[in-house]
Amino acid sequence: MPAERRPPRAERPPSARVFFALWPPAAVADTLAGVAHTFASQHGGRPTRLDTIHLTLAFLGDVPVSALPKLCALGRCLQASRFDLHLDRLAYWAHNHVLWAGCRATPEGLTDLHGRLHAALGEGGYPVDPPGRRFTPHVTLVRKLDLAESTDWPPLPSLIWHCASFVLVQSVLTPEGPNYRVIETFPLRCGV
Ligand code: 2AM
Repeated sequence: MPAERRPPRAERPPSARVFFALWPPAAVADTLAGVAHTFASQHGGRPTRLDTIHLTLAFLGDVPVSALPKLCALGRCLQASRFDLHLDRLAYWAHNHVLWAGCRATPEGLTDLHGRLHAALGEGGYPVDPPGRRFTPHVTLVRKLDLAESTDWPPLPSLIWHCASFVLVQSVLTPEGPNYRVIETFPLRCGV
């Protein structure tokens, strides 16, 4: 058997599909789920379920379950401040058929959190994105949406998300779509 062939599933160490994310407070999730439903009922596509609405900070994919304590420790050690996210942008990406909510101006606090998290993941042996890849913070609202071209839509009603923590999440894929389980929540600091 060639050395590079993967061992049979039963012999592989158990793994978990994980990512770091911002998880919205109930009121923000409610509003975004409403926008997703309204848009999908008018234009088609699959709206994101209320309980799965989030903003991805770093997608790691499958990692050994034995690595989860290290990832939690990394999240606990991260020093970053709270910030407000003004979700004032609704846009469509034709390349992956996704409608998403984002912000016209990314807050410094989010850029800082994202940068620190990716630096810590890289140092910890979990490089996530190629260096230099641009971060476009977005909350996926509708998938499998077929519009003619990438476009921006009229802005969302002013929606402010007070970001006071971030989370490590496990994604379990099911035929009905992914189910997400928050493994641990990491508070962001007040002030600078
Ligand atoms: P999204 O943020 O654009 O919706 C969990 O799968 C989350 O990680 C999703 O929110 C997803 O995209 C994001 N993600 C980033 N890269 C991914 C990848 N290669 N495969 C699956 N999800 C990915």
